[in-house]
Amino acid sequence: MYVLGLDLGTSALKGLVVDQQGELVAEATASYPLSIPAVGFSEQDPKHWLEAGDKVMKELLVQLPALKEKLAGISFSGQMHSLVLLDENNEPLRPAILWNDVRTTKQCQELTEKIGPLVLEHTKNVILEGFTLPKIRWVQENEPEIWQQVKKIQLPKDYLRFWLTGEFHMDYSDAAGTLLLNQDTQEWDQEIMKQLEIDPAIMPTLIASTGVVGKVRAEVAEDYGFNQPVQVIAGGADNACAAVGAGIVSEGVGMCSIGTSGVFLRYEENTQKEYDGKLHVFAHAAKEAAYSMGVTLAAGSSLSWFKDTFAAELSFEELLGEIDSVNPGSDGLLFTPYIVGERTPYSDSQIRGSFIGMDIHHERKHFARSVLEGITFSLKDSQQIMEEVTKEKLSRIVSVGGGAKNKDWLQMQANIFNTPITTLTTEQGPGMGAAMLAAVGCGWYSDVVSCAKDFVSYQGEYLPEPATVKAYEEVYRRYRMVYPATKPICERT
Ligand code: XUL
Repeated sequence: MYVLGLDLGTSALKGLVVDQQGELVAEATASYPLSIPAVGFSEQDPKHWLEAGDKVMKELLVQLPALKEKLAGISFSGQMHSLVLLDENNEPLRPAILWNDVRTTKQCQELTEKIGPLVLEHTKNVILEGFTLPKIRWVQENEPEIWQQVKKIQLPKDYLRFWLTGEFHMDYSDAAGTLLLNQDTQEWDQEIMKQLEIDPAIMPTLIASTGVVGKVRAEVAEDYGFNQPVQVIAGGADNACAAVGAGIVSEGVGMCSIGTSGVFLRYEENTQKEYDGKLHVFAHAAKEAAYSMGVTLAAGSSLSWFKDTFAAELSFEELLGEIDSVNPGSDGLLFTPYIVGERTPYSDSQIRGSFIGMDIHHERKHFARSVLEGITFSLKDSQQIMEEVTKEKLSRIVSVGGGAKNKDWLQMQANIFNTPITTLTTEQGPGMGAAMLAAVGCGWYSDVVSCAKDFVSYQGEYLPEPATVKAYEEVYRRYRMVYPATKPICERT
C-alpha cells in the first residue's frame, strides 16, 4: 500500500508517494503564479492550487497506475497563515492573501495596541504582518462588502483538502498560525473572535494533524479511478511537516532550514515556555507537542542576491568554492542579512542589510564567506533565545534545505551553533512529513515518533571544532552590535 503527501508551497504543489517502508516511489510537481498587485501585496488564486492538485494526481497515476488499488491515504502540508475566504457556495471571494504579504502594518499596530496582551497570552504569539489575524482585519476594513459574504475561513492546504472531501477542517498546527487558536485550551479563542467580530460559525472544525477527516468523495474518486476508499488525513503547517520529515519529534533536537527564508526550530513538549513573543510558538503536527521557531526573512535569498548582483557568471559551487581558504570571521568583514527587513529576533520591516569592516585586502571570497556567516548568525539569534529561555542546549541540529548542500557551510553551522549538525540521507521536505502523517492516520503506526524511526534516516555528522567555536563567539559578539548601530540609519519616516 501507499500514502501520498501533498505539499502546497508558495510557488508549487509537490506530491510524494511513499510505500510502507518509507521509500519514495513517485513524485510530481505543478507550479502556479504569485501575483503582486501592489507593493507589499502577495496573492494567489486558490483555484490554481486545485488545478495543480489535479495535475499532480493525474501525473502520479500515470507514473504509478497501481495507486488506483493501493493508495491508502492522503495528507497535506501547506504554506502557513495565508487567508482563504469562501462564500456560501464555497467559492473563493477574493484571491488568497499570502503569508509573505506585508500590507497589514497598520492593522498590526492597531490590533497590538488594542488586544496585543490578550493575543500573546492566549495564542503565545505577537501580532505580525505574516499571520492571518491582521489579514482578516485588513479585509474587514478595506473590503467590507467581501467580509459580509464570508461563510468559511480556510488556509491553503485546508481548501485543497475540502476539494477532496467536501468537509471543512483545520489542524492545530496551522490553526495556531492564524492567531485565533487558544493554545492553552486548543479551541478557537472566543475572546479574540469577539474583539474582531468574527462569527464562530465561519471557523472550520479543529482536528489533530494525524486525524482522519473522511474519505475522498465519490465524484473525485471516480474521476481518478480509485477502486478502494482513500482516507484523507488532516495534515499540518509546512514548518511542522518539515520538522516531522526531519525527525524533530522529541526534546533536545532542533532544525535549521535554509531556503529562501531561514527557519530555526526547536521541538517543545508544550507551548508553556515563556518566550513572550520573542519567537513564534506553534502547535506541532507530531502528537500534542509544540515547536518554537525564529525566522530569518532573507536567508538563501541573501546568498542568491549576492551572487546575482556580484557574481552572476558563477555557479553557487564556484562562488563558494574558495570560502574554506578564508579565516572564520572573514578577516573582519561582517554581513547582516536584513535585505528585506527582519522577523526574528528583530521584528523590523525597515532595517536593511550591511557589510561592515571592508578592507582593501578583502576579495570576493571574503564577501561570500561573510554572507554565509551573517545568515548563520541571524539564525543563531533564535537559538540564543531558545537557550536563554529553556536553559537547555540542543544536543543535535538537523540541517535541511540549501544550507545542507555545502559541506563548508555545514561545518560553519556546527561551529557557529556550537552544536553537532547532521543531515538527512534523502531530503524530501515537508511533503515527506505530510506522507508520514498519512501513514500514522492510516494506522500503519501508532504515532509520528514510531513512524519517524522507520521513515527518517541521517547521514554525516559535523562536530564543533573548539578553536573555531571560540573564534566565532567573538565575531558573533561584534555581529550583534551591527543591528542597533544601523537601525537609526535605516529608519524611514
Ligand atoms: C512561518 C511562515 C513561513 C511559511 C512559508 O511563520 O510564515 O515559513 O510557512 O510557507
